[in-house]
Amino acid sequence: MDRIRIRGGNRLNGTIDISGAKNAALPLMITALLTPETLTLHNVPRLVDVLRLQKILGNHGVDIMTAGKRAGQNGGAGETLRISAKTIVDTTAPYDLVSKMRASFWVLGPLIARMGEAKVSLPGGCAIGTRPVDLHLLVMEKLGATCDVEQGYVIARAKHGLKGGHITFPKVSVGATHAALMAAVLAHGDTIIENAATEPEIGDVAECLNKMGAKIEGIHTKTLRITGVTSLKGAEHTVIADRIETGTYAMSAAMTGGDVLLRGARADTLENPLLLLERTGVTVERNNEGIRIKRNGSALQPVDIITDPYPGFPTDLQAQFMGLMTMAKGTSHIRETIFENRFMHVQELARLGADIHLHGDMAEVRGVKKLTGADVMATDLRASVSLVIAGLAAEGETMLHRVYHLDRGFEALEDKLSACGADVERLSGS
Ligand code: EPZ
Repeated sequence: MDRIRIRGGNRLNGTIDISGAKNAALPLMITALLTPETLTLHNVPRLVDVLRLQKILGNHGVDIMTAGKRAGQNGGAGETLRISAKTIVDTTAPYDLVSKMRASFWVLGPLIARMGEAKVSLPGGCAIGTRPVDLHLLVMEKLGATCDVEQGYVIARAKHGLKGGHITFPKVSVGATHAALMAAVLAHGDTIIENAATEPEIGDVAECLNKMGAKIEGIHTKTLRITGVTSLKGAEHTVIADRIETGTYAMSAAMTGGDVLLRGARADTLENPLLLLERTGVTVERNNEGIRIKRNGSALQPVDIITDPYPGFPTDLQAQFMGLMTMAKGTSHIRETIFENRFMHVQELARLGADIHLHGDMAEVRGVKKLTGADVMATDLRASVSLVIAGLAAEGETMLHRVYHLDRGFEALEDKLSACGADVERLSGS
């Protein structure tokens, strides 16, 4: 298995091109199931999760052409995918594929909407929590499908198609909001979704669906109104910049000190984390190229955060912010309200010398003057980069193991960081 070796102490100076958002690209690819025509997606990040989803869609009979662009070629950093679900040959999403990539469970809605049936493996839990799907099943039943759970599979049917309904989510769920949108666009009649998640990636998907002929109103708000249509057509769409990758590199530059331009970043999609980053004493400059992060050696101030659905502080940046706060000049408090087990990075950060105390869903981070490089293990996607952030400032060498977690969601991380002066290298094999 690959490892990443980091020799800490270098400041970051230069430019990092921000990739397309993983959490937009995945649902966008899934919307291709809703039409027999071709959906063309630009700026798709080169990630393991994208490759896994291509395999799952292929299992349903979907053809996917990649344009074979290299990073940075022709302006757009990402890949172009041409996805055609002309005929869906299989409405089953098997356990061995779904268990590796949770978001593939989201094929449930489009398969029912298009084919009237679906057999999708329950995704199972993962490192950060049990990850139930009860809200997804609520959506499908509200839209007239019957859903049975048998031997680890959801078996859903809607012989006469889906019908519009009124969905009020008891709690905010990104995935279930995606599911509701993707099912309702082809339902007979109108659907109202209340207490919808408003993450920018959902807006990106809704805008793409409207380009495909869907009729969605209230995009980017908590109340969505969908008028069902009989069919959708192909379209062309560019994946929104990844706000989690942006926040991750902003916190990397804050940790090392330096001056980095995050090119292509969309500041309007991560205002809350940027404001909190400014409170730590980092300079954040929003310009038409992206976001510029500067810290010239001034001490990092401790800042408390509570994770919250958008537009609050994203849970997907919690581990990274904790990595940064390990060297703040004082104590910060980090509360995780979205997932029940998203502190797996704490014991690994402690191996680098961090001083963190857990009290239920709150981590008390007492800033230390120095971190020292050590062997550490990635446990989940976002925890892995909190260890990179700490390693960039730790004295000596940090060896990050199980980097396959990191490869799921960060494109060419070691290239992007070393291009700005970090001593980061991927060691293949063993
Ligand atoms: C999406 O996961 C993201 N994944 C996650 O990013 C992100 O952390 C999460 O939203 C929250 O922002 C993708 O977009 C592919 P939820 P999702 O449904 O949809 C509970 C990453 O690192 N819940 O908003 O699975 C759930 O247990 C990943 O890129 C139910 O109770 O998250 C959690 O406590 C990690 N029942 C809360 O809701 C359900 O049916 C929010 O989950 C569904 C969810």
